[in-house]
Amino acid sequence: MQPKRREFLKAALCVGAGLCFPALLASCSSETKPTEPGGTVELDLATVPELQQVGGAVKKTFAPHNGGRPVLIIRLGQSEFVVFSTVCTHQGCEVELPQGGAIPCLCHGSRFAAADGHVLQGPASRALPRFASRYDAARNVLLITF
Ligand code: FES
Repeated sequence: MQPKRREFLKAALCVGAGLCFPALLASCSSETKPTEPGGTVELDLATVPELQQVGGAVKKTFAPHNGGRPVLIIRLGQSEFVVFSTVCTHQGCEVELPQGGAIPCLCHGSRFAAADGHVLQGPASRALPRFASRYDAARNVLLITF
């Protein structure tokens, strides 16, 4: 196989939802790696400049988790993080990064609290789904369980 074709196929496999098998992961360039088949991923925070400061936030996709849609990760404190689905509970638009403690959805104006995802303003009536996370300070890694 020609080198360019091989690289293209490898890249396609690496970005394909859930298609990164362990042997391929070694050749995928990514700051995340699955740790368990049950759905926990590790995010190396050294590779995420948006999360270096308290108050920072970023969207990341860990397909196939969260239906292939991004999650919103917010650093609330030195060792405190929250991880939400970006899928608005009103009609499924993708919410924006937080502004002034609120996560807006631009489709119809819903707003969710950045601290816990509860609804600040409708029309959404349900909180943003939250995923469990744990910060490993010794390794500067965030473990997210889907
Ligand atoms: S889809 Fe978010 S407010 Fe309607």
